[in-house]
Amino acid sequence: MKILLTGGTGYIGSHTAVELIKSGYEIEILDNLSNSKITVLDDIERITGVKPKFYQVDLMDAEATEAVITNGSYDLVIHFAGLKAVGESVEKPLKYYKNNIGGTINLLESMQRNNVKKIIFSSSATVYGDQDGVKLTEEMQTGIGITNPYGQTKFMIEQILRDVTVADSTFEVTVLRYFNPVGAHQSGLIGEDPNDIPNNLMPIIMKVAMGEMKELSIYGDDYDTPDGTGMRDFIHVVDLAKGHVAAISKMGSGVSVYNLGTGEATSVMGMVKAFEKASGEKLPYKIAARRAGDLAKIYADPAKAERELGWKAGLTVDDAMRDTIKYLENYKKANG
Ligand code: NAD
Ligand code: UFG
Repeated sequence: MKILLTGGTGYIGSHTAVELIKSGYEIEILDNLSNSKITVLDDIERITGVKPKFYQVDLMDAEATEAVITNGSYDLVIHFAGLKAVGESVEKPLKYYKNNIGGTINLLESMQRNNVKKIIFSSSATVYGDQDGVKLTEEMQTGIGITNPYGQTKFMIEQILRDVTVADSTFEVTVLRYFNPVGAHQSGLIGEDPNDIPNNLMPIIMKVAMGEMKELSIYGDDYDTPDGTGMRDFIHVVDLAKGHVAAISKMGSGVSVYNLGTGEATSVMGMVKAFEKASGEKLPYKIAARRAGDLAKIYADPAKAERELGWKAGLTVDDAMRDTIKYLENYKKANG
């Protein structure tokens, strides 16, 4: 089976590329490198022995996208490509709607024209909106209380994919709703670039650990959680990558939706403690005001993925911290 990964040089795409190659799949990568580096391809080769064929193409360029799909003879597309910085999406909504939705429509049109009818889409727990403190299951309502354009694009793309399968019953769509990916490959060669735009917890912890930021601001310690800080379902990125491999063999017509999470929530303070334990160093932090739009506790019910895909997260937050620290050491060496 030949698979195209859009956004495959990015954080989750690169880890998935490694797991797909290890499972014997032939893969190619399309990315515009707006949020990733071409050197990731060498790192994938270092880990797997295979350097995937790469196209530096922007999905907003319909002609260039069409050329890749027409020549590729792909059986499946895994669609990671998209902008993901929640805060930036509030400032620049049109950039997000244009890139994420426009790019997806170009991709789907090219797929249709070339009879490529299987797609796995990177969605997000954000589609569950403001449902707080309950184990989220796939059949729960989506789309209510989404507070930013980034989240809206995920909700809208899920809907677009549903409509495409209604119009063409031979289309096979798998929607994977990721919870909070953290960690890095155990080799320490690939991971989340701390110089990314998003203001997510782990890249900020990494910047503080590297001395590039003075301290972590913990957004709120007065939530209704055991230690008062927000809680999330942090999933090791390698487990997440393996979820894609598991999903491939179970694809069928129509839309299938799976949560990819651990089913456990860890607090922000718990993450600080886990980082300190793994690094043996104190992580400077201060308690700050709550961040607008944040919820107290978001976590997955991953039972459907286990039941139907035979997939379950096996790594822990401590594993993620160990691998992040290894990646950080390599990153510091490579970037001075
Ligand atoms: P990432 O930014 O590391 O990877 C996305 C890749 O897509 C980047 O390499 C970027 O250069 C590329 N890209 C963006 N727009 C493009 C375009 N128009 N044409 C071609 N390439 C383009 O992000 P990630 O964390 O690996 O996320 C992958 C996917 O998973 C995204 O769709 C993201 O929204 C989704 N997701 C991520 C998280 C998370 O916390 N990381 C959570 C839920 C869902
Ligand atoms: N946090 C801090 N300080 C920081 C950054 C984050 O205390 O500097 C806290 C947040 O308040 C929250 C937790 O850490 O309680 C996690 O925040 P992130 O920004 O890392 O992640 P979110 O859960 O807010 O959102 C992430 C992605 C979304 C995705 C969602 C899925 O950013 O794209 O997970 O649940 F949709």
